[in-house]
Amino acid sequence: MTQVAWQGTDRVPAGQRGGQPEWSGMARTDASGAIPGGGAIAPSGPMAPGAPLADMGLQTGAQQSQQTHEQARTGGEVILDLQHISLSFGGVKALTDISFDVCEHEIRAIIGPNGAGKSSMLNVINGVYHPQQGRIVFRGEERRQMHPTAAARQGIARTFQNIALFKGMTVLDNIMTGRNTQFRTGFLAHALWWGPARNEEMRHRQKVEEVIDFLEIQSIRKTPVGRLPYGLQKRVELARALAAEPSMLLLDEPMAGMNVEEKQDMCRFILDVNRQFGTTIVLIEHDMGVVMDISDRVVVLDYGKKIGDGTPDEVKGNPDVIKAYLGTSH
Ligand SMILES: Nc1ncnc2c1ncn2[C@@H]1O[C@H](COP(=O)(O)OP(=O)(O)OP(=O)(O)O)[C@@H](O)[C@H]1O
Ligand SMILES: [Mg+2]
Repeated sequence: MTQVAWQGTDRVPAGQRGGQPEWSGMARTDASGAIPGGGAIAPSGPMAPGAPLADMGLQTGAQQSQQTHEQARTGGEVILDLQHISLSFGGVKALTDISFDVCEHEIRAIIGPNGAGKSSMLNVINGVYHPQQGRIVFRGEERRQMHPTAAARQGIARTFQNIALFKGMTVLDNIMTGRNTQFRTGFLAHALWWGPARNEEMRHRQKVEEVIDFLEIQSIRKTPVGRLPYGLQKRVELARALAAEPSMLLLDEPMAGMNVEEKQDMCRFILDVNRQFGTTIVLIEHDMGVVMDISDRVVVLDYGKKIGDGTPDEVKGNPDVIKAYLGTSH
């Protein structure tokens, strides 16, 4: 039987269809923290380039976050409920009647082939796009038209598929922009560096320094972002999102274009954010090994429609999902 790796999610050409997708990547630990199949748990740290993801110490992060994940799986409260969402651009139906929910503290993945509607869905959640149909209930309140800054004030932060940073500004200043929605005192007070404004800015700077420490980017804090390699720019974008102290983090392909080592680091940070801060994470990612390892639940889109929803194991066995990726069911 032909083996097809779930690495990229480009639609598979008809001539190559058939077979069983191989959900390669990082093994999910079982309840005891052991890796199914008996693999050893490696300590985290630098790994040889090209090492298989399963050998890179990610199990340590997954194991540490097991308790949080179990809580999410076994009854975390629904904090975001998307009901019958439809979104069109002229004649293009980006999303058709999509319903799914997100529970507090979970890692919820959205997957699907190119053009499936994943980024559109994220843009609906943080108010960039307004669906023509459907309801969005966030923390018990139905949202109508919402601006992204309002979503940010409600604790929703995000990163973008294409890095959206100020390339000429330093890492520190870029991360500081993540605090914008938190400023309470006025522009004039800040301009004069006066009283409460001064105290407030000190608090913001302290928070930013905490994020810099957390993501281990102290050495590049004064470097202009445009001079950094791609993988580090992605990490800075995560830092900017974290600086907003979100309760929900939307990540649009945070590992796209990264090498294996950079992916390992990013996985560890995502798991640590989830575990240490309890942040709910909605993740779009094409690397199926990563998705299947770190997600609690996965929703699958194809051509703007939902074709699967469940735990990684349920989704892996879903004939419609296999068909969407391979073009055939069996
Ligand atoms: N602003 C827009 N204007 C017009 N069409 C759009 C817009 N945004 C998305 N679309 C269309 O909606 C569909 C879904 O696009 P979307 O970017 O959400 O897919 P995706 O699943 O994120 O794909 P990829 O994996 O390539 O990032 C595509 O047909 C796309 O061309
Ligand atoms: Mg996209």
